[in-house]
Formats: sequence, structure tokens, C-alpha cells
Amino acid sequence: MDVFAAGTDTTSTNLEWAISELLRHPYAMKKLQQEAREIGQGRTMITEDDLDRMPYLRAILKETLRLHPPFPLLVPHESTHDVKLLGYDIAAGTQVMINAWAIGRDSSTWIEPNEFQPERFLNSPISYQGFHFELIPFGAGRRGCPAILFSMVINELVLANLVYKFDLALANGECLDMSETTGLTAHKKYPILVVATPCFDL
Ligand code: HEM
Repeated sequence: MDVFAAGTDTTSTNLEWAISELLRHPYAMKKLQQEAREIGQGRTMITEDDLDRMPYLRAILKETLRLHPPFPLLVPHESTHDVKLLGYDIAAGTQVMINAWAIGRDSSTWIEPNEFQPERFLNSPISYQGFHFELIPFGAGRRGCPAILFSMVINELVLANLVYKFDLALANGECLDMSETTGLTAHKKYPILVVATPCFDL
């Protein structure tokens, strides 16, 4: 149940947002395709062993999680003891909601917070493992997501192979609406319709 409830929606939502952002930013799509095609070098597939040499791919998924965390409010937590935080008294037993969506777009932390700029993560130590509180799409601490590596390797592999083998474009007449749904998971309100043209040079 945990795998189905926590693992399916989140992973596919992240991928759909990443593809949408790439369609909106052709320079990033091109740069990612270049990275994938240099690494793939005509082989049938990009494999897990290749991923460590694909920093731009990783930066794209990180930037997507910053702007579109699949669980915008993480999951509810409860303080176990009395805490004083930024002048506020939070009593033990208080339910705490953490707005990861707002943290990812906070202008006191991020330059041009609403812009999709994967480059910001290229030479940055910020990871999403829960050590850098400015980026916590998987939560942090002992109740943080146990499947960070698993889900990101899946998404890196899928996205790398998609752009390696296909040129992606919006279907004719489609417009890219980036509205979000409300709910525990923040999906795209309107699904994207993408035409994938095989790259026959490979
Ligand atoms: C992009 C993909 C994913 C995102 C963004 C994500 C995000 C999260 C978040 C925000 C939490 C709550 C953390 C907290 O409260 O601090 C969580 C918990 C959890 N996630 Fe994930 N998750 C993803 C993929 C997965 C996958 C693929 C699985 C399983 C195969 C999974 C299994 C779980 C489980 C079991 C918990 C509960 C952990 C606990 O309560 O101790 N997640 N995840």
C-alpha cells in the first residue's frame, strides 16, 4: 500500500512537470538532448551506469522538484515537544504543515524564484536528501521519503531515454497550460499532449 500510495503519483507527476518545463524552455531541452546523445553515443539505451555523467539531467529534475514539488505541503507532522521558532511558541502535539512549494519559491533564498533555471543547480551543493532546508520535496529527517534514490533513478532513466531517442514537441494546436490541481498531490490541471518523433540517427 505504501508503494502504491506514496510512490506512483509522485513519480509520474514529477516527470510530467519536467517534460512540460522542457517544452517551455527549448534551450534546456536542446542542452539535455546534447548531453544524452553524447553519453549514449548511438547505443540502444542510456543505462543506470551513465547517469552519474549527466549533471544537466539531474539539475533539470531538481529544478522541477523545486518549482513543482509533488507533495506541496509534504505530509502533516506533529511536534513532539514544546519549541520556540522565530519568536513563535509551538506547543507539543501541534499539527505542523510544511509548505515546501512556498519554500522552493522563496525570493529570500532563490534568485528569480519563479523562473525555470536548471543551471542554478549545476555547481551547487544543494541536494534534495533533506540536508538543505531550502529544497525539501522529499521532506527531511527520520520521516523523510525513504525512496529518494529509487524514484530519482527511475525518473532520470526515463527522461534521459525519452530525449535520447525522441524529439518531443507539443501536438498541433496544443497550448501549454501550467495550472496546477489542488489536492494532496499537485498534478498538472490539464495533461500535455506530446508528439514524440523518433530520432533515426541513433
Ligand atoms: C518524485 C517522487 C517522490 C516524492 C516527491 C516523494 C515525496 C515524499 C514526501 C514529501 C514524503 C513525506 C516526508 C515527510 O513527511 O517529511 C514521503 C514519504 C514517503 N514516501 Fe515518498 N516521494 C516520492 C516517491 C516515492 C516512492 C517511489 C516510494 C515507494 C516506492 C515512496 C515511499 C514513501 C513512503 C513509504 C513514505 C513514508 C515514510 C514515513 O512516513 O516514514 N515515495 N515521500
